[in-house]
Amino acid sequence: MRTNYCGLINEQYLDQTVTVQGWVHRRRDHGGVIFIDLRDREGIVQVVIDPDTPEAFTLADSARNEYVLSITGRVRARPEGTKNDKMISGGIELLAKEIDILNTAATPPFLIDDESISENVRLTNRVIDLRRPVMQNNLRLRYRVAMAVRRYLDSQGFIDIETPMLTRSTPEGARDYLVPSRVFPGEFFALPQSPQLFKQLLMVAGFDRYYQIVKCFRDEDLRADRQPEFTQIDLETSFLSENEIMDITENMVKLVFQEALSVDLPTFPRMSWHDAMFLYGSDKPDLRVNLQFTELTDVMKTEEFKVFRAAADMKNGRVVALRVPNGAGLSRKEIDTYTEFVGIYGAKGLAYIKVNDISKINNSEDSGLQSPIVKFLSDSALQSIIEKTGAQNGDIIFFGADKAKVVNEAIGALRVKIGHEHGAANGYFTEEWRPLWVVDFPMFEYDEEEQRWSAMHHPFTAPKAGHEDLLVSAPEQCLARAYDMVLNGWEIGGGSIRIHRADIQEKVFAALKITPEEQQNKFGFLLSNLKFGAPPHGGLAFGLDRLVTLMAGADSIRDVIAFPKTQRSQDLLVDAPNHVDEKQLRELGLRLRQKAQTEEQN
Ligand code: AMO
Ligand code: AMP
Repeated sequence: MRTNYCGLINEQYLDQTVTVQGWVHRRRDHGGVIFIDLRDREGIVQVVIDPDTPEAFTLADSARNEYVLSITGRVRARPEGTKNDKMISGGIELLAKEIDILNTAATPPFLIDDESISENVRLTNRVIDLRRPVMQNNLRLRYRVAMAVRRYLDSQGFIDIETPMLTRSTPEGARDYLVPSRVFPGEFFALPQSPQLFKQLLMVAGFDRYYQIVKCFRDEDLRADRQPEFTQIDLETSFLSENEIMDITENMVKLVFQEALSVDLPTFPRMSWHDAMFLYGSDKPDLRVNLQFTELTDVMKTEEFKVFRAAADMKNGRVVALRVPNGAGLSRKEIDTYTEFVGIYGAKGLAYIKVNDISKINNSEDSGLQSPIVKFLSDSALQSIIEKTGAQNGDIIFFGADKAKVVNEAIGALRVKIGHEHGAANGYFTEEWRPLWVVDFPMFEYDEEEQRWSAMHHPFTAPKAGHEDLLVSAPEQCLARAYDMVLNGWEIGGGSIRIHRADIQEKVFAALKITPEEQQNKFGFLLSNLKFGAPPHGGLAFGLDRLVTLMAGADSIRDVIAFPKTQRSQDLLVDAPNHVDEKQLRELGLRLRQKAQTEEQN
């Protein structure tokens, strides 16, 4: 129906007659002459309709935003001074000869250009929202990423094998989405939290290199980087070491950045989980922020100041300092805001010292250190703090003292926040790509609520060679053959070498307090197949949504998913979840527990 895309017409077409079709982005009446910006997926072209073509003029006059038009016209140069270098079609315009209204449009709920629309309105009107050029670009970037991934993995001998969506629960740590069975009333499928066990079984079956770009489902509390239904680039290999798997996938991510963004990523440094927690309080450190923790736990063991001493003496307690160069200028109000911010993570306060004059490190009236807490600290502790942090005049030092988990989360988040807010101006934040691998994860973490150990990655992850005996004797010291890929503070992928021997798998299950009966009941199919000659194997899964969000420079993964869920796991466009008929429930052998519902049925 058309000869060209609106957004791609340039000077090359001068004096030619073209036919374009698209949506009215904007219509302007300039006293006798009408201008229409016509938009299609490639962009916008400016059309001039003059009264000399009365039929076209009347139609153009009646056109409104988002009407679908077909326009035939001659390409001519825009008058000097009205050219727009930022658009491919910015040097030309179409002089309309013929206009056809292919469809009218109701007044859209918002203008396509309007950046100030609330997300709920955007998600309710997602179709209109998706017309916005930024959304079009995001989804096209997502496609380019997925294609680059497929080309790369294909070239490396991976094959795409589909795994079931109706399956049984695998423990990735979230709640399952359940699907009731009609044929077996009272029984349920679970939607996969990942294809983890199937991909391992494919290795046992001899496929050697598997991948899939696949939906995963997790019913968990949502954040900007989480969706209940998200997409993994999932892969698994046989007979490769963790280094080889990390190399293959690092090269994949580099290639994707090169192909989709023309960006050359630097080599990914490797950092142990322990170092990441020690220096940044996070297993996904944002390395763009050049601020580090200083450990003060030992220093505070001999101090009187209760807040620090109590944390230093606590089992799993920690006291750290965060030195912020040039931060002494922070106002009381800003510090209060930061104190509130760390409160979100459970911190009970945010002690600080402003360093005014390091020639006077003492706790007297005349101290060069300005702070509500110096008077509680000994001169030698103050000396240590200044030395260990390397603080200079004009800096501020923040302190966290609590259980290590609270300190890490609170001061870790503060580090990132201050880095982003003040780092660029003060030389401790650089906007660049900072990927890394985090390795040497512990096998287990202690679940305080459940009072037992749980798997840090998942229970199919192999312990480090030589750590098998620690599984039972010292689970806290046992390290895993697991690795995460982190980019600019986001965990974009994670994987591990798996347990390929049934006896070790049983040991790990036992360490997790899964009884032999439960093991058989839940994982019998895995254990029995590991016994049929399972090869050594391992793999990794990337969060495609997260990767594309970072690449697009978007704030939320919802901006790179065509039809995402809200923070409350709803689809506002189709209004899901929703009630179902009593008949459907009856077929499934279900009765709702809610009182109102039950009464309605009776
Ligand atoms: P994991 O649970 O670490 O590993 O998930 C892999 C990657 O998936 C992404 N991701 C998410 N993205 C959006 N929303 C979510 N709710 C969400 N949850 C996870 C993250 C994460 O790094 N089977 C293992 C992988 C393996 O061992 O091979 C797994 O699923 O980017
Ligand atoms: P308080 O003794 O509670 O008045 O606290 C004295 C100073 O220590 C205040 O500046 C508090 O913000 C700070 N503070 C209190 N608890 C903590 C904590 N757990 N970590 C860091 N600073 C704290």
